[in-house]
Amino acid sequence: MSNRVYIFDTTLRDGEQVPGCQLNTIEKIEVARQLEKLGVDIIEAGFPVSSPGDFNSVVEISKVLKDTTICALSRAVKKDIEVAADALKYAKKGRIHTGIGTSFYHINYKLKSNPDEIIKKAVEAVKFARNLIDDVEFYAEDAGRTDNEYLARVVEAVIDAGATVVNIPDTTGYCLPQEYGEKIAFLMNHVPNIDKAIISTHCHNDLGMATANSLSGIINGARQVEVTINGIGERAGNTSLEEVVMAIKCHKDLDFETNINTREIMKSSRLVSTLMRMPVQPNKAIVGRNAFAHSSGIHQDGVLKNRENYEIIDPAEVGVKESSIVLTARSGRAALKHRLQVLGYNLESDELDEVYQRFLDLADKKKDITDEDLQILAGREQSHK
Ligand code: KIV
Ligand code: ZN
Repeated sequence: MSNRVYIFDTTLRDGEQVPGCQLNTIEKIEVARQLEKLGVDIIEAGFPVSSPGDFNSVVEISKVLKDTTICALSRAVKKDIEVAADALKYAKKGRIHTGIGTSFYHINYKLKSNPDEIIKKAVEAVKFARNLIDDVEFYAEDAGRTDNEYLARVVEAVIDAGATVVNIPDTTGYCLPQEYGEKIAFLMNHVPNIDKAIISTHCHNDLGMATANSLSGIINGARQVEVTINGIGERAGNTSLEEVVMAIKCHKDLDFETNINTREIMKSSRLVSTLMRMPVQPNKAIVGRNAFAHSSGIHQDGVLKNRENYEIIDPAEVGVKESSIVLTARSGRAALKHRLQVLGYNLESDELDEVYQRFLDLADKKKDITDEDLQILAGREQSHK
């Protein structure tokens, strides 16, 4: 089995479902162009039947992108599939993503159907889509809470019907990493035609497990991961692209590879955050403001001796110029000395002690100590000479 993991970005579809974060077509094209620069393999550009705006965005994105597969979502409904195919008519490489709920909840309460009828509808939808386009992905909605034996029957049937990719969504973010990994392993071991399709993960973050579940999925045989920039998406969001990609990159032992140009990560994160007016939490892994900021004295001293003491990622690898040493009341002399040197002050050790005491007094009163504050503190010391 190949170790190449395909990155399927759904920022413009599942990500855009966040209330208040809707983008217009021009903004979506800007995000899509950046995603292509980032090197994602597939962009889910929208759900064309849902609104004329979504239809139009899929059409316009299809016209401008060159290398990336453009995917359009549909339910397992003929009208949806026809509209999706129409929206993809200009795509160099197009994919229809169709599917239906497979869990007890979805079959009984949402669809008011039965397991055999669901398989029939799934197969019809995939066959219908395959008559319109070569690349068809099937999603078994709420697969995370679907019985594995039944899920295996669904997966076998849709692959026989022509699905090229089968998506196993943990729609409600319910699974634990081991459980989700076992689900993928079960399918890999029990579906006889599994090697004819790529298995995809699509995890939601309701329990904060989306990244862990996605990694568990690929470790157990999935080769496509569905993600969003900054992990945005319904409720608690989707698996975040930057977390999965950097986990794969940091853990060479896993021996997976993606096509992502990681140096474009921060730019992509900022673009999505700005256009969607959705701030990134400061402690967000990889792209948060504090992801490469060191503030305690022990850590600052360690980083100044050797970056790798406290950093597992070189910030430049994700497009961040350098890590920062934040001066607070928890900082030590080493950090203060370093910052003063950067500002051009080379103080003797007794002078440094004096400035450090005044620095601590100030830092107890003021959260952020700026370079201007330091210049005043160090300037006073020099004028005392
Ligand atoms: O979470 C989910 O199940 C989805 C599907 C439509 C793929 O977003
Ligand atoms: Zn989803």
